[in-house]
Amino acid sequence: MNSDIPSLRPDSLPRHIAIIMDGNGRWARKHSLSRIRGHREGAESVRDIVRVCREIGIEVLTLYAFSTENWQRPRPEISALMKLLKQFLKSELAEMMENNIRLKAIGQIERLPADVVKVLREVMDTTIKNQGMILNLALSYGGQDEIVEAVRKIVAEVRADRLKPEEITKAVFSNYLYTQGMPEPDLLIRTSGEMRVSNFLLWQIAYTEIFVTNTLWPDFRREELIHIVHDYQERERRFGETGDQIKRGRGRQ
Ligand code: FPP
Repeated sequence: MNSDIPSLRPDSLPRHIAIIMDGNGRWARKHSLSRIRGHREGAESVRDIVRVCREIGIEVLTLYAFSTENWQRPRPEISALMKLLKQFLKSELAEMMENNIRLKAIGQIERLPADVVKVLREVMDTTIKNQGMILNLALSYGGQDEIVEAVRKIVAEVRADRLKPEEITKAVFSNYLYTQGMPEPDLLIRTSGEMRVSNFLLWQIAYTEIFVTNTLWPDFRREELIHIVHDYQERERRFGETGDQIKRGRGRQ
């Protein structure tokens, strides 16, 4: 490895990294290219980041690939993004199998075009037994919708007498989210400088460390990811406690 790349401590790695991949359009404009070319270059960053996360031992990598709000984009851009996603899934399957990566998806998957859903389900089924890392794609995803859907499911359970209102705890509520069974993100990265959460994993990021970089997503590659994880390892996570309590080894379980 390059000498200016910091070495990471395996005992304090983030278990779950979530990324808001922003800036494909600005990258394209900067290079006088079409927005679609920006997304295509962005897909190269996805490949690189998936590889490095697997290599360093991340358990879950969640990528915000398409939000519910993105359906409002011009039709040709939506079509190009769907095509790119389908190509990505097909071209990466062999590598996912080789590297023991399981694909999962969160969001209103049924809103995606039928051909994309088909490939997505095939890749999820094929990789279902892989245990090296979960690559979790947020597709047609909106955090507020996710919470509303969870509430609806819980209400249905209560009405059917399968759940009592007093049994609804934070842990029970989490089980009705798309991310059910996954650890909450330890680190949220947003590229291209915007200081917003953009309806991403609203419930799950309650205690997540946030890192915003000005780098545009197509320029975001492995070295920067490693630097950010190193920065994360230097931070003190307090979960509402004092620094002294954390040092005495209490902290959140
Ligand atoms: C944000 O850039 C990016 C997206 C809306 C889509 C993300 C898609 C990819 C990275 C490529 C394909 C994904 C996979 C999983 C293969 P933007 O268009 O909002 O950029 P801008 O804010 O600069 O216009």
